[in-house]
Amino acid sequence: MIKIAIFASGTGSNARKIIEYLDGHTQIEVGLILSNRTNAKVLDLADEYGIHKRVISKDNFKDKGFTIGILESFNISYVILAGFLWLIPEYMIESYHRKIINIHPSLLPKYGGKGMYGMNVHRAVKANNEIESGISIHYVNSEFDEGEIIFQSKCTLEQNDSPETIAKKVLELEHKHFPRIIEKIILNT
Ligand code: GRF
Repeated sequence: MIKIAIFASGTGSNARKIIEYLDGHTQIEVGLILSNRTNAKVLDLADEYGIHKRVISKDNFKDKGFTIGILESFNISYVILAGFLWLIPEYMIESYHRKIINIHPSLLPKYGGKGMYGMNVHRAVKANNEIESGISIHYVNSEFDEGEIIFQSKCTLEQNDSPETIAKKVLELEHKHFPRIIEKIILNT
């Protein structure tokens, strides 16, 4: 079994889709859910599906031995970021080279970078009267949202779309594509 860890800070609707998609998979298994927030809803998924979970503090996350120690203890080969808000430290990018994958709710390089997360992204898209938005799945490097893009998918925006309706359209694309793209990358198909 190839084991993946899901890192998430929030609700975990993408985490849920990934877990459901991989449930019963013959080659890939979610081995760990890691969050920086004790009360993140995503951690309930670990209980629901019997997956190991860990909460990490900022100091421990900066500590290579600590974090890599956790990942190795669960035999983790890939790290999936699904709404994880901390920058990934350099040591992790070296240890998990091209094995850390993030999803971002815009068509990168547009609307990426520090502070561009959640509704901030969709508000900026609306403010600029964009006619389309979408998702980007990319490898993670040491800058926010700048790693090599693996996959993008677009949705059309209408004049009467609000940041909220844009968010909904984009999230639908995330749920549709992220699990399948993760599988594809890992199995190299
Ligand atoms: C998603 O929009 C994703 O693109 C971003 O964080 C959000 C996570 O949402 N990186 P959820 O917790 O999976 O619902």
